[in-house]
Amino acid sequence: MSAPPELPPLVVRALRMSLERGYVQTSRSETGRLLATLAATRAGTIAECGTGCGVGAAWLRSGAPKDTRVITAELDPELAHGVMVMFADDDIDVMHADWTSLAQHAPFSLIFLDAASAKSWPREDIIDLVEPGGMIVLDDFVPSAGWPPIAGGRVDVVRQQWLADDRFTSVDVMVAEDTSVIIAVRR
Ligand SMILES: C[S@@+](CC[C@H](N)C(=O)[O-])C[C@H]1O[C@@H](n2cnc3c(N)ncnc32)[C@H](O)[C@@H]1O
Repeated sequence: MSAPPELPPLVVRALRMSLERGYVQTSRSETGRLLATLAATRAGTIAECGTGCGVGAAWLRSGAPKDTRVITAELDPELAHGVMVMFADDDIDVMHADWTSLAQHAPFSLIFLDAASAKSWPREDIIDLVEPGGMIVLDDFVPSAGWPPIAGGRVDVVRQQWLADDRFTSVDVMVAEDTSVIIAVRR
């Protein structure tokens, strides 16, 4: 993807924390730029499942309007507390909790499902977390040109079901040669 090389200062700080901790699960910048762009259209509350070192939350906060709340949940206590300290003055609410605890702050105008269990969670429960017109974002898919989507020689059932569910208007966006992101908007 072609994009200016500069990264938002919040993202730079989160990337620095990832580097210092040897944390390798951070969201890629291509995905981050998409998150920031989507967040720019969102009012209300945006949620992230799985904070990691805060890179996704930093992209969301960098794109979102000032009045939009950004909240993120991380199960690992050291990561959660590290990110809480890092973002103490940055208007990002960090919870040390299982992502399912985010439900108490729903409905969301966007939810980024970036913890493994959230991605495979029943869509019936996820749909209740977002308002009509709200977005659900899932990343790290292997680009697949045909239908059904294939990954590792098998049908990618999770992606197939998200894209075929008629409660959503959905798209699989290839953000780089080797990775794609699903955006599902609740009808
Ligand atoms: C792919 S990483 C998150 C990367 C981060 N969102 C980013 O944009 O850089 C997934 C994270 O989810 C966390 N996690 C796993 N299970 C979880 C759960 N049930 N609730 C909250 N966080 C969880 C992991 O500890 C890990 O840090």
